[in-house]
Amino acid sequence: MSPPPRLVVLLSGTGSTLQNLIDRICAGTLEAQITGVVASKPGILGVERARKANIPYTVVEKKPAVTFGERTFDAIRLYEPDLVVLAGWLHLLQIPPGFRTPIVNVHPSLLPAFGGPGMYGHRVHEAVLASGAKESGCTVHLVDDTYDTGPILLQRSVPVESSDTAESLAAKVQAAEREAYPEAIAKLLASASR
Ligand code: GRF
Repeated sequence: MSPPPRLVVLLSGTGSTLQNLIDRICAGTLEAQITGVVASKPGILGVERARKANIPYTVVEKKPAVTFGERTFDAIRLYEPDLVVLAGWLHLLQIPPGFRTPIVNVHPSLLPAFGGPGMYGHRVHEAVLASGAKESGCTVHLVDDTYDTGPILLQRSVPVESSDTAESLAAKVQAAEREAYPEAIAKLLASASR
């Protein structure tokens, strides 16, 4: 039997997306292994989750900013990924020429709506509520050199109720992400191995 495909997870925050992937892998519902985590800040909960799960991690601090991209990709390469998974990673990646491994992200809206620079976390849900949209959701997409514009792999919608707050909408969208992201990752890994 061949070893499970290798994921490298990039994060900047609480790592709840990482935790979901760890849980799915442990439960046997996602056939993959997380060979490394790259975090953009020390001391964040995402790093603690990696440590608890015995996943090797590297913290790549933003400063000096000129070398941040290079240092990030050096750390990614160290863990030899088949797929790079962004999980609450808050920085634009400048993908080096020659880096062929696919990179995937999950965004908490139905792209192309409510994406782009500055659209992360509760800002997305506040903008959705302010627009009067009747539905929101999540989008799993491949990552290119700009925010939230890469080819869409999968979307899941959730209803927006008049009683929703940014918090309640975030909870619904996150529940959709918990299903959609592992599903899209599994599909991508299956298509890459054919
Ligand atoms: C997710 O909700 C996702 O939409 C966005 O980052 C959030 C997760 O952050 N990409 P975290 O995994 O809890 O740190």
